[in-house]
Amino acid sequence: MSIKPRTFLVTGGAGFIGSNFIAYLLEKHPDDTIVNLDALTYAGNLENLKSVEGNPRYAFVKGDIRNRELVRALFTEHRFTHVVNFAAESHVDRSIVDPELFLTTNIIGTEILLDEAKRSWKLNPDDKYCKEYRQGVRFHQVSTDEVYGALGKEGLFTEVMPLLPNSPYSASKASADLIVRAYHETFGLPVTISRCSNNYGPYQFPEKLIPLMINNCLNDKSLPVYGDGMQIRDWLHVIDHCSAIDAILEKGAVGEVYNIGGNNEKANIDIVKLIIRMVGKSEDLITYVKDRPGHDRRYAIDNAKVTNLLGWKPFYTFEQGMEETIRWYLDNQQWIDRVVSGDYQAYYQSMYVAKG
Ligand code: NAD
Ligand code: TYD
Repeated sequence: MSIKPRTFLVTGGAGFIGSNFIAYLLEKHPDDTIVNLDALTYAGNLENLKSVEGNPRYAFVKGDIRNRELVRALFTEHRFTHVVNFAAESHVDRSIVDPELFLTTNIIGTEILLDEAKRSWKLNPDDKYCKEYRQGVRFHQVSTDEVYGALGKEGLFTEVMPLLPNSPYSASKASADLIVRAYHETFGLPVTISRCSNNYGPYQFPEKLIPLMINNCLNDKSLPVYGDGMQIRDWLHVIDHCSAIDAILEKGAVGEVYNIGGNNEKANIDIVKLIIRMVGKSEDLITYVKDRPGHDRRYAIDNAKVTNLLGWKPFYTFEQGMEETIRWYLDNQQWIDRVVSGDYQAYYQSMYVAKG
């Protein structure tokens, strides 16, 4: 059982999932306080946090998780009881273009956070054999199902499967998971890891499939579908991801990994056609483009551990979640227009090669 009140260091909280998590946690737990450390890369957007601005239990710090001095100073100042690490480079396509950035942020950044948590929380920091920590502290690593690699037509990812990542992104996330594990095994640091499937919902940067397709539909631009469009992802509403992390923080056992997913396997082409229908456009917008290198064919989560042991279940059905999400993007077109900057346009142009 976790101690209350809790003081969180949330990293990457200006991104898609982190910003939803901060709003969720502040509302659900009226005693918790949060410091959000975010470097505000292209994916970080303080507009996502308008609803919590001015909340006395929330503070924002612009900074990099790789900045050890800054991370140490924050631990000293705030005496965090919890770390939830969302900060990451998160887009597979970008990891194919610039793998090194993914390695430094996702691996080295995580190691620095773990090390500073250990330093701050350990009861006897000078004793390398000491595995005793302040009561109730917890380091939670937000990972992804992509660390398991790709599935064939059958089967589901379970927590005991080997890690077989295929992209520089997923390899960097798998590496971070192993470092988190090592800090638990070697130093006794109280950690948990969650591995979630693909998220959708408000505030997702429009480089990812669902907001990209909605945005292109709204602007009558072609809809770039990789390869044959028959790759399968297991979609979960972002708020259900947040509630699962909340359950893990409250009830999850230290040292454990929890898969999170909502049993919503969909082929990419079906998602694209659903969006076209809901936005009221024509399937003529679909353009099949050259496939992503190393493209994982299918992801699907076995969520028995988080549902059976922690009593978590998703709130949203896929249909309701998608409907609300599409409505949100339709109602917040200014948000999209503002994040779709000049830089993004250049990135977008360079990303797709006609299929041939
Ligand atoms: P995102 O790209 O929207 O947000 C990432 C955030 O991290 C941004 O605000 C960015 O500014 C910040 N950041 C990046 N580098 C940083 C650094 N060096 N220091 C501090 N902040 C930095 O990503 P997301 O989709 O919200 O994903 C959040 C986490 O969840 C990631 O760790 C990702 O691997 C994981 N995850 C995502 C999904 C998904 O479907 N999006 C699914 C499972 C797991
Ligand atoms: P994405 O949202 O990038 O998530 P991930 O690669 O982490 O699963 O992509 C989801 C799926 O959609 C993936 O199979 C790649 C595919 N995709 C397209 O077909 N076209 C696109 O323009 C994008 C961004 C993704």
